[in-house]
Amino acid sequence: MSAARAEPERDPAKRAAELRRLLEHHGYRYYVLDDPEIGDDAYDALLDELRAIEADHPELVTPDSPTQRIGGEPVSDLIKVRHPQQMLSLANARSAEELRAWIQRMRNHLAREGITDPEFEYVAEPKIDGLAISLLYRNGVFERGATRGNGEIGEDVTHNLRTIPAIPLRLDIDDPPTMVEVRGEVYMSLPDFAALNERRAQAGLSTFMNPRNSAAGTIRQLDPKLTADRPLSVWCYAIGATQGISFEAHWEALEWLREHRFPVHPDVKKLQIEDEVVAQCQSWEQRRGSLDFEIDGVVVKVNEVELQRRLGVVGREPRWAIAWKFPPTTAVTRLNQIGWNPGKFGDLHPYAMLEPVHVGGVTIKLATLHNEEDLARKDLREGEEVIVLRAGDVIPQVLSPGPHVAEREKRPPPPHPPAECPICQTPTVKPEESVFTRCPNRDCPGRRWQLLKHFVGAMDIDGLGEKQVSLFMELGWVRTAADFYRLDAERIAGQPGFGEVSAQKLVTAVEDSKRQPFGRVLYALGIEEVGYVTGRNLSQQFRTIDGLLGASIEEIEQTQGVGPKMAQTIHDQLHDEQMLGLIEDLRAQGLRLEQEGPAPGTGPLAGKTFVLTGTLPNLTREEATERIVAGGGKVTGSVSRRTGYVVAGESPGSKLAQAERLGVQVIDEDGLRSLLP
Ligand code: IVH
Repeated sequence: MSAARAEPERDPAKRAAELRRLLEHHGYRYYVLDDPEIGDDAYDALLDELRAIEADHPELVTPDSPTQRIGGEPVSDLIKVRHPQQMLSLANARSAEELRAWIQRMRNHLAREGITDPEFEYVAEPKIDGLAISLLYRNGVFERGATRGNGEIGEDVTHNLRTIPAIPLRLDIDDPPTMVEVRGEVYMSLPDFAALNERRAQAGLSTFMNPRNSAAGTIRQLDPKLTADRPLSVWCYAIGATQGISFEAHWEALEWLREHRFPVHPDVKKLQIEDEVVAQCQSWEQRRGSLDFEIDGVVVKVNEVELQRRLGVVGREPRWAIAWKFPPTTAVTRLNQIGWNPGKFGDLHPYAMLEPVHVGGVTIKLATLHNEEDLARKDLREGEEVIVLRAGDVIPQVLSPGPHVAEREKRPPPPHPPAECPICQTPTVKPEESVFTRCPNRDCPGRRWQLLKHFVGAMDIDGLGEKQVSLFMELGWVRTAADFYRLDAERIAGQPGFGEVSAQKLVTAVEDSKRQPFGRVLYALGIEEVGYVTGRNLSQQFRTIDGLLGASIEEIEQTQGVGPKMAQTIHDQLHDEQMLGLIEDLRAQGLRLEQEGPAPGTGPLAGKTFVLTGTLPNLTREEATERIVAGGGKVTGSVSRRTGYVVAGESPGSKLAQAERLGVQVIDEDGLRSLLP
């Protein structure tokens, strides 16, 4: 579908349907293909317009409307539901020999059925380590989503599955099948998992053991609002029960899913030769650590549905599919010692120094322990056995004491945070409201290193990572973030790991970062509680660094997403002498300390609300919206007395009549252009 030109709407029902189609299209581009066509603002404007229509015409709200994804009511209990077709499990193979033996067993079985020398085609897919789900579409509409449960009876989790943006609420087919049941795996991506645990650790809450547990806990939430806060993803891998549609091969089903916008992993492969299947399994095993979600194996399926039927099922396991399982990612080892590392605000983070152990394909010696409370909750002691987990690229973590710890008569004393900072030896402090003991020394090299690392990450400076930051600190070239902008290519070129070209490249990347917007600079400064979003909100609210520095705590509190405590922290940390010095230094280096573009409430279109109707000669509705928003104006869906202008194109709808009735000014595309900046 093309988003290019919006059809002129005739009535609210038609426009609502059109908006839903557009929102589905753009949601798909963003969430499934990771390739958006329009900006967030334009997407939000479409959503706002749909919300406005639905508010005016509640009878037009449909369950498959994109407005209905979140905001569903909490349920009081999870209801048990019977799957229209049993959800099977899989037999395992742990080596190439076992995989080949499986193929031989299939041949033997078919030979007994009178089929000699079957030409197998195989499909190899990642075995995603999440939770199996079933999505039921009746007449093209997502009706019910359920967990696997025992394979026959699962739990209705429709309210939560709706919040997953990659799951279509409606099939984009004119003549949808009466019923189709899509099967897939819900999971939490590793970055989302790490961020969630980080947030929970910071808030002093218990952390999840692994992405799978975290996805499992999330999908069974009763309140969909909580689910929406914990990002889940999904890969679809099969079609279950159907009515009004059928497939002759598994590959066909996958293609159908892809065509109808279900997320199917792009590296699923169709293969003919046994050796290729083995090679494919091994290749997934090698790539395992570089994926951004966890897989615990590869599923190999026989492609032809007729052969699947002939092969049949034993117990709950089909003969026609197998899971090539990877070695586990947990291991038991000794926790030799607990170390403490200051973060960028001096908060001491515990970490485990382990007896080196081989897990998930690599040797690990260090693992994170999150925070003191987590450490206490897990009841870990130095010198004892522990269970460690290594999940993909996430930093390894210590899960719990080892299997035999409970049998011990005498355990070592529980660990305590150190009385002195392990890096700078300053006596530590423990603020009452914090789960962290802190190093209070602003000049602590450990803290500085973290702050500088944060700065280069936030400013997205290519080629400047941990290693380089450490090197430049050791050389005494960099103490504050402003020092990066004084680095000299010639001197860098003489350092180990650098040549002339790489040194010049690095200096250019640093120079380029001066173009990062003000909001990002605010984030990069490393003010407690100011993440990327708050940085951007502050930049929009105050426009310039001087505006922000001149603001009172009460004024800072007016910023979106900033509460009273946060406002106090931001104010205090901004007015700290070192911070003021850094800001001046960065200003002198030419970083952007002003917001570009018009301020809300100050652009040429400030305070003006626009309503679009009909087809404009040269601008699509989305383009027109983007330009109005860029000029400081707002676009809404329905005409009222407060509407500034109605922009009418060809075949305008009822909004034009409404505008005329209310006496709202009506302009055409040229009229709009003359108002734009
Ligand atoms: S197919 C034959 N395909 O693995 C049908 N399952 O042990 C069985 N899983 O409960 C399922 N990725 O949760 C299939 N690409 C994939 C899978 C997959 C993960 C899970 C699923 C299932 C379990 C079977």
